[in-house]
Amino acid sequence: MERGIIGTPSRYTRTVTMTTQPDVFDQQDLAAIESRLAHHVAHADYAPNLRSAVEYALLGGGKRLRPTLVLACARAAGGSIDDALDAAAAIEMVHAFSLVHDDLPALDNDDLRRGRPTLHRAMGEAMAILAGDALLALAFQAASASPRGALRIVMELSRATNAMITGQVHDTLGGFPADLSAVDRLERIHANKTGALLVCSCRMGALSAGAPEQLLSQLTQWGTLNGVMFQAVDDLIDETQTAEHAGKAVGKDRDAGKLTYPIVHGLERTRSEIERLRTEALATIAPLGPAGESLGRLTDYLAGRTR
Ligand code: IPE
Ligand code: IPE
Ligand code: MG
Ligand code: MG
Ligand code: MG
Repeated sequence: MERGIIGTPSRYTRTVTMTTQPDVFDQQDLAAIESRLAHHVAHADYAPNLRSAVEYALLGGGKRLRPTLVLACARAAGGSIDDALDAAAAIEMVHAFSLVHDDLPALDNDDLRRGRPTLHRAMGEAMAILAGDALLALAFQAASASPRGALRIVMELSRATNAMITGQVHDTLGGFPADLSAVDRLERIHANKTGALLVCSCRMGALSAGAPEQLLSQLTQWGTLNGVMFQAVDDLIDETQTAEHAGKAVGKDRDAGKLTYPIVHGLERTRSEIERLRTEALATIAPLGPAGESLGRLTDYLAGRTR
């Protein structure tokens, strides 16, 4: 089964379809996310070719995990989805920017993303660089439109974006403090390049709901554990899945000399670490009771996903 992209269709998004998301993704949330993304792009003042590129990168599939986390944490904190949707759109824009630039020849040099050609393969490197820049700017515009807690949300987004970029620098160019072990370098890469945006999603959701400090800190802890687990699973996908299934190139991390979980720890230890992180993540939200149930389902899904 497949679902089409909701929102303003263009010649770049019309034909794109995605595999139906697992049940842990709320269909109404996904529809609301797609339409808020399309809304922000539709209101941006872009040259037509830049608009096409931004639409291609942003409205062209993806799991929508980060915006889903924003909405799930807002809900867990008793907030309204309407108050969280701009932050949800904003984090997906930063994520889409990070993917476009991650795929560039100077970084991972990948040809396939979300089951189709990467943006630089489809529209050239100059446009991919510029569309990434445009997505980053649009993200902060969207975050600043948050009806509740906008300033703090923008600050969170800014901090997490810096961390993600630092993680990408460590992943691509090094720049670690001296004498850091491979295990510590791996932790630093994963917590920054991937964990930061997932933690930020949880915190922005909580902030949009006006969550008290204790709940904010529980959701931060949950997001931190899920963030590292998410990249460990991504590393496992690179080693164990096909490109057709994952929708992106696989089997490249080892050749590229990346520090990944399977490379540093081996496959068996990677799987046991994922299980440890899953259990710890579930323990952090146990005190939330029924309000944390959908978060627990998301953790279980994230631990076992294969794409
Ligand atoms: C891919 O993220 C990049 C990583 C941080 C590993 P996702 O696996 O969430 O990618 P999409 O959004 O579903 O395409
Ligand atoms: C990318 O990590 C993380 C960011 C884009 C910030 P990867 O390079 O492992 O992601 P994939 O495997 O290309 O999706
Ligand atoms: Mg990369
Ligand atoms: Mg990559
Ligand atoms: Mg990867």
